[in-house]
Amino acid sequence: MNRVTDDGFRFLPGHLDRAAQEALVAVVARIAEEAPFTRFVMPRTGRPFSIDMTNAGSLGWIADRQSYRYSPVQPANGRPWPAIPEPLLRLWRDLSGYAHDAECCLINHYRGEGARLSLHRDEDEEDFDAPIVNISLGDTGIFRLGGPARRDPTRSFAVESGTAMVFAGPSRMFYHGVDRLRVGSSRLLPEGGRLNLTLRRVTRG
Ligand code: SIN
Ligand code: FE2
Repeated sequence: MNRVTDDGFRFLPGHLDRAAQEALVAVVARIAEEAPFTRFVMPRTGRPFSIDMTNAGSLGWIADRQSYRYSPVQPANGRPWPAIPEPLLRLWRDLSGYAHDAECCLINHYRGEGARLSLHRDEDEEDFDAPIVNISLGDTGIFRLGGPARRDPTRSFAVESGTAMVFAGPSRMFYHGVDRLRVGSSRLLPEGGRLNLTLRRVTRG
């Protein structure tokens, strides 16, 4: 079921076969050696996320008591993030159709029960014309997709390992989140859980 909706959202289950998924798990493991996963806290409240994050790229998405923002360096050690590996840049080029390369690959690690991401919009970028490309590995996530306003109705659907999603056009600014995992639904990750990679253009090209 490949779906393209007139709001610019593309849902591509099975976009990556098992071998490609395994290769990306190895790519993420190498990124995490250079830039370890960390648990950010939310601005103002200081409450921790329920998922761990890291990045590749010239800019990484971070959160702390002050703000959500992009940073050229890892907050924990001041080092640059590792470059976005070629297989991920290829996915960006194939799926985004955008003239400029992604500058950030945010990697979310949902470790198991209780890992979720509440409804939000990706709005810390300068360039809202570039799509967001989203890749899922491991346990199925129950995704929630709304509209441009927080109060808009939402739909929820299962996102399996190997699924690519593209948020282009109006859907680029739609509210979205992850309600929960189907824990144990995949054996791709040795320790279970779900990895989600979002490729983003941050600056104006
Ligand atoms: C995100 O909104 O940054 C990621 C959503 C997901 O995990 O699929
Ligand atoms: Fe998001």
